[in-house]
Order: sequence, then C-alpha cells, then structure tokens
Amino acid sequence: MESVRSTCSALRPERLRCEHLVDPMGLDEVAPRLSWSVAGDGRDRRQSAYEIRVATTREALSDEHGLAWHTGRVESDETLDHVYQGEPLQACTRYWWLVRVWDERGVVSGWADLAFFETGFMGAPWPAGWISERSLGADEEYETPRLAAYDNPFQALSVAHFRRSFVLDRPVASARLHATALGVYEMLINGRRVGEDVLAPGWTDYHTRLEYQTYDVSDHLVAGDNVVAALLGEGWYSGYLGFNRKRPANIYGVKPALSAFLVITFVDGTRLAISTDDAWRYSRGPHIYSDVLMGEHYDARLMMPGWNRPGFDDRTWHEPELGATPPRSIHGARGPAIRVMRRLAAKSVKAASDGSFVFDLGQNMVGRTCLRIRAERGRVIRLRHGEVLHEDGTLYVENLRSTRQEDIYVATGEGEEVWEPTFSVHGFRYVAVHGLADAPPLEAIEGCVIHNAMEETSSLETSSDLVNRLYANILWGQRGNFLAVPTDCPQRDERLGWLADAQVFLRTASWNMDVQAFFTKWMIDVLDAQSPEGAFPDVAPRGPLPQDGAPAWGDAGVIVPMTLYERYGDERLLARAYPGMAAWLHYIRRHNPDGIRTEACHANFGDWLSLGEQTPKALVATAYYAHVAALMARAATILKIPEDAAFYDALFARIREAFQRRFMAKDGRLEGNTQTAYLLALAFDLMPDHLVPRAVAHLVENIEGRGGHLTTGFLGVRHLCPILTQHGHSDLAYRLALNESYPSWGYSIANGATTIWERWDGWTGEKGFQSPKMNSFNHYSLGSVGEWLFGAMAGIDDDRSGGAFRKIRLRPTPGPGVDRCAARFLSPRGWIASEWVRSQDGISYAFEVPANTLAIVELVAKGAVSILRDGEETTPLGWTDDRDRGRAKFELGSGSHRFAVLNARPQH
Ligand code: BGC
Repeated sequence: MESVRSTCSALRPERLRCEHLVDPMGLDEVAPRLSWSVAGDGRDRRQSAYEIRVATTREALSDEHGLAWHTGRVESDETLDHVYQGEPLQACTRYWWLVRVWDERGVVSGWADLAFFETGFMGAPWPAGWISERSLGADEEYETPRLAAYDNPFQALSVAHFRRSFVLDRPVASARLHATALGVYEMLINGRRVGEDVLAPGWTDYHTRLEYQTYDVSDHLVAGDNVVAALLGEGWYSGYLGFNRKRPANIYGVKPALSAFLVITFVDGTRLAISTDDAWRYSRGPHIYSDVLMGEHYDARLMMPGWNRPGFDDRTWHEPELGATPPRSIHGARGPAIRVMRRLAAKSVKAASDGSFVFDLGQNMVGRTCLRIRAERGRVIRLRHGEVLHEDGTLYVENLRSTRQEDIYVATGEGEEVWEPTFSVHGFRYVAVHGLADAPPLEAIEGCVIHNAMEETSSLETSSDLVNRLYANILWGQRGNFLAVPTDCPQRDERLGWLADAQVFLRTASWNMDVQAFFTKWMIDVLDAQSPEGAFPDVAPRGPLPQDGAPAWGDAGVIVPMTLYERYGDERLLARAYPGMAAWLHYIRRHNPDGIRTEACHANFGDWLSLGEQTPKALVATAYYAHVAALMARAATILKIPEDAAFYDALFARIREAFQRRFMAKDGRLEGNTQTAYLLALAFDLMPDHLVPRAVAHLVENIEGRGGHLTTGFLGVRHLCPILTQHGHSDLAYRLALNESYPSWGYSIANGATTIWERWDGWTGEKGFQSPKMNSFNHYSLGSVGEWLFGAMAGIDDDRSGGAFRKIRLRPTPGPGVDRCAARFLSPRGWIASEWVRSQDGISYAFEVPANTLAIVELVAKGAVSILRDGEETTPLGWTDDRDRGRAKFELGSGSHRFAVLNARPQH
C-alpha cells in the first residue's frame, strides 16, 4: 500500500460550485459560498491546505495585488462552503475564481479549471419597467378579430410577442440581459434565442417574491440595427393553476407582464441600458392560446417571419401598457433553471380505433412533444397526451380531470414542419396524433423531457431486473416532477408543491440528483408561505391552495432544512429557516398543550393512500410532532443555541411520554396495530427501549399476516424497508421490495409501470383503473424506497452529522433475490462506489470513497468464517467467527478497497 501512495499524483480540485450552482449568473448573495471536491488516485488522500483566489478579471488572478479575495494558503481539509470574505462584492460584476490544494504530503495541485460567479443587483431596486398587453374595456374583444375565428374553450390567453429595435454605433465589449416576468417568458436577440431556459422565471409566490435571470448576450449583438424580442405567456401567474377552473384565475393577477433590462458595455467604456418601456411594440402571433396545463393551439400560418429581427415592419403593432404590480422582492434565481434535458425517440406507432395514431415513447415522461411532419396548408393536427392506454389502444385521459394536455398545430404546407409548444408541459408516455390521413413515420414524434437542470448523481445496477426498473421508475418520477417546484404529479389539474410528498422523498431525491440549490429555492417558497401565526402550508407556493398545513405536510418546513443539512452540510439555510421552524413548533404547541396533536391539524390527511388499514390520525400527527421537536433540538445544537436545544429536548421527551401513554399498550402494541403506526414509532424513537423488539415483532407479524404485503401510505412507506433492515429483518425488506403480487412496487412494474404510481391500486387486474378523480401514474411519493436501495441494499449512507459525507457509512446488505448490486453516487465530496457480488463461497465487496473522507465499513454475514482484505486474511476488531453471525468493522481512508467475506477458510 505504501508503494501505491508514493507513486500517486497530486490531488485535483474539481466540480467548482458557487452557492451550489455551476458558474451562476445574477447572484444576489452578499457572501456567496465556494465549494469544490478533490480527486486523486491511490489511498488515504487528503487535502491538507487550500488557496482560493477571486478577481474581477482573469488576468488579475495571477496578480496578488489585484485580487478581490485571496485566502493565501489555509491549512484545512474542508472543500465545502467557503464563505466569501473578500472586498465587498460589486453589483453586476463577474468574479472569476480559482482554487488549488495541497495534499497529505504537502504536494500542491495545479489550479482548478477557472470558474466564475456573476453578481446581480445585490439588493438594489429592480431597474426595469413593466410592459404588458393593453387591458380591455368592458365590451372590447381581446386582440385582433382573427382570433375570434378559433375555438378557445379554455379562454386561455395567446402569447404576446414584444419587440424593440435599437442601433449600436460603437463596438460592444459585453452585454447582459436581465429579465423576468409575471408569467413566463423567452427572450430573443436578433432572432436568436437567449439562453436555453424553459418557462422562466419559474414559479414563486408572485405576491411575495419574483426571481430574475441574467444572460450573457455579448455575442448576440451586431453593429447597426438590432432587435430585442420576447415571448410572454401566462404560465403559473395567470394561467390555469391547480384545481382552479375559474377564468381569469386571478390567483396572482389577470394578465402577464414582462420586465427586461439589457445593459450593453462598449469597448470605450460607455454603457447603454434598454429597459422595457413605451418604445417596445407588441402583437399576437401564431399562438391562439398557450397554457401550462391545457396545452397550446398554434396556427403556423400566422407566423410573422422576421418579427424578432431588424427590418421587420411593426407599424401595425401596438403600444404596450406600462406598469404592473410586482412583489417587493425581486432577486436573482436561487435554483437551477428549467431546461429541455433529453429527447426520447418514439418506440412504436399504431393506428387506434378513434382514427388517431398513437405513438409510444416507451417511458412515462414530462415535457412536450416535438412534431415533425409534412402536411398540406391548413391541416389541423391535434396531439393528445396520456400516461396509459385503454385496452382498445386509445388514450386513457380520464385521470387528467379538467386538464386537457392537448396541443393543436395548423400546418403551413411548406415542406417539413417542426414544432414544439412554447409554454405548455404535459405528463405522458403516449401521444395520440389526430388529423392525419396516413400513418406518420416514427420520427414524427419526439418527447422533450423538461425539468430543472440538476446533475444526476447516481447509478444503480443489480442482478434483479425488477430492482433496476424500480430505481429507474423512481428516477423518472423525479425527472418528471422536479419542475419549478417539487410537484405531486405532472399531468392532472394539480401539479402543486405538496409538502409531505417532498419531505418523504427528499432523501431519495438527494441520491439521484444534486438537489441542494433546487430545494434551497423551494424552502424559500415554504417560508414565504408561512402564516403570521406560524403555520406552514400544505402546498408551496401557497397561492392555489391557501390552507394551513396538516401533520407531516406542514412539518416539512422543519424536515427539509434538516435533511439538506444532513446531506449537504448546509448550515446557512438551516440558520435562515430556523426562526420559521421554531414558529411552526410553537404554533403546534400552542394548540396542543398536552402533547397529543389533535388540534390545528387542518386537512389532516393521515397516512395518505394507505391500503386496507387506517393508522389513527392522532397517532400519526403526534408521532410527527415528536419527530419535529427532536429535529428542532438537533437544529438548535448545530446552531449553538443551547437553551433552545434543552427546550426542544424536553418537549420531545414530553410528547414521547404522552404518545406512549395514549397510544401504546403494555406489550408494545400500538393503537390501530398498523404497519405505519409501528414504523413511525420506531423511526422517530417513540418506543421505550425494552419494547422496541415487541414493536418490531408486531410489525413483522402484521406484514407476514398479509402474506408479506405492505399497507403503508405516503408516510409509512418511507420507513418500511429501512426499519425492517435496521431491526434485523432485512430478508423481509427484500421480500417487500421484490414482491410482484399486489400490492407492491413490483406489481405496478409487472403491469408496465415506468414511473411510480400515486396509488398501489392505480390499476389492478381485478378492478381495472382506480377512480379517475385521483389516479396519477407519475407521483414520486411511494418511491421513497429509493433511500433503502442506496442506504441498505448498496449500503452507502451518510452519518447524518452534517459532515456531508465526510464520514461515509458503508454497510452492504445482500438479501434474497439479488446476487449482485453495484451503486455509484456523486456525493458533495466526490464519487462513492459500492459493489457486492454473492457467490457460493461468500460475498465479495468492493468500494471506493473520495479524498478527505473516512469510510466506516461494516460487513455482516451469516455463517461466514473468514474475511479477506485485498486478498489477505484479516481479523478486524469485533469480528466473531464462532457465532452464526459475524460482524466486521473497519475504518478506512479514501481510495478503492476490496473485501471478501467467505463461508470457509481459504486453503493455503
Ligand atoms: C396530492 C398529493 C397530496 C395530497 C394531500 C393529493 O391530491 O396529489 O400528493 O399530498 O393530495 O393529501
């Protein structure tokens, strides 16, 4: 091993991030945090020191005196969240930054690839005006008469096209476009799209807060005539939202408005700023209407060639209305933008009995359809979107409720036409194309997958096709529902940021993708939605469903920041959320002074969508109350507020005692005797120690009594497999995870699921489809078993200390039905890999952990008698080979390691 170390090369700093984003633009954080990870070959690698340089030009980075921040060499192995402490940051300025590190031998690395962050307005008032379409008088028709010729059953608005010409007479050094909308927008300069964002600026509570985007448009501009242009749609602002069917919805406002600020810096140092004002002109174009939920109607014959370029005659265009009522807080985007993340080719196309041609994308997905056809002028093509099919091959759309998810395209007849809707998103696997006489080719339809641009951070491959598909279904549920906010579902008239769904799934989500910035933004939405009394809501943003939060729903306001702390070590978010978290606890306590939570439970959903057995709602509510009290005690300790920590510790103890008194019998039986009751009590440490084994026994008995089947709803399911594994019933956890009979994940998979269903009985052989009133085929909540796949099956876990994987707990847990499991996970500190293979001789296990981490490896094996490390027999501390069950524990540094746990002693 020594030889490995002496030949290894210097460490490499990589994955540079600022505020958990790569090269963010328009950052309004006064003291942003800089992070990186280090990679290097060999073992026991460690950063012993680092140096950060920040400067406003690349050149200044090499000049010690021209730096905005220079840490010099700092002895530290920390790679995450270095708080900027240099000169006060200037607004609208690009800061380049570099880092290098010294390794455990004092060998210095090269400088990492150059990174940057660019500040936004840094708290200064938003500089641009607001423009919108003219408001109408009582008897005026909306827009030009030609729209009257179309059917607009939803009274959704068209997409406004704005343009503004300007002349540049000096060479441009750089240019930035800052833009936002009460609505959704896309900007263009000289006909070229600015950035790749979809549905910007995303969704926030527009009464309280709005985000803006900043784009580098330096190379969009030309000498002479230029045009800046925009498309503006209703989006979440005034379009259909949630269950609301009223027109105008008027949750936030009745019509969208645009605000943009283009700042051009010339080579001679002078500047020109162009804001949205009365010099802009607008018209409606080919969009008859466009709505996120309903779909888009687009008549390509009405396209206005050249409208977004110089030379277009806009004399018939209208003068915009000026002004709007934006919220007081307008700041740079905190999370990753929404983008088209991948494209799916259609797998098959079949003619259906209703005359449509049904394309199958092979995957339930979320986004939009790209249509590619040749058709005669005026041909009306309808694209309907559904997740599943009826037996006769026609689209099942009953579960969409009032949402239509239907796009209409009217062809120009000019050669091949390619079209994608602009401001509409659907949840679908199948696209039914209506209006074509002949079967279109497969290439006519492509699926554009849309979600917030987050790095995918995991892979999981096992010998079980079912497990592999389960993992894929969970991941696709996340791809489909992490769109602006974490939504419950992507298809029906709902698509809301339900708090419980998000909190039960967050741990799983953080295996699959780097969700830190996305959830930081959403946690701000949650805090924005807190009532003056301290109540968190059921959904955030709260607008479409203003009710206060139920137990486990509102509790997400405490669980989310604590989970982000555990996974990413984000103390700043925790500190910012803390007053709101405390207000929520006091709100619950005020209403439930005796510790049993029965008051202020609002919609009180209980263990939502459990099957066949109901856990008493007061038990669920009280268990969660105890849990959030315990989390508060931890948060207070982390934030060094000892008096609060003592207070919440005592509160937890009181609730726990009240819980036991009220819901627990002497033999550890809980009221209701349901799986979820035991799971919550065990997961939240509510059983007295001596009754833990009894509670586990009751749980196991319940599951066995149902032939190895679950009954858990959204809340219980998250703890099902982890708790069984933790308490020595790993085999039963495997049985549940691999089950194919109803109810189980496997049952949905056996019936063609490519995402996680909302309900265990979304479709059953016996009853067919569940009630269409609530039957989504893409709800991630029941996919929270993902945390067990990584944490137990693959056996990788953080130690929940907030060290963000500084200490990595590796405890692979092979079980029946799976012979091989290989997982990889990109932690904030770098890649972790864990792979085990079972053979007749025993288990071989290999893992890899990144520099600066410590792996605490536990190998547990039944009947094993010897253990090899790197091929050599070893007797670790704590290993017993005379008992049936051996447990070996090692603490190892970075690098790759190999073990074999054998059933027989190797022959020498
Ligand atoms: C949503 C859920 C949500 C629930 C509240 C449903 O309509 O789809 O996922 O958590 O309501 O019980």
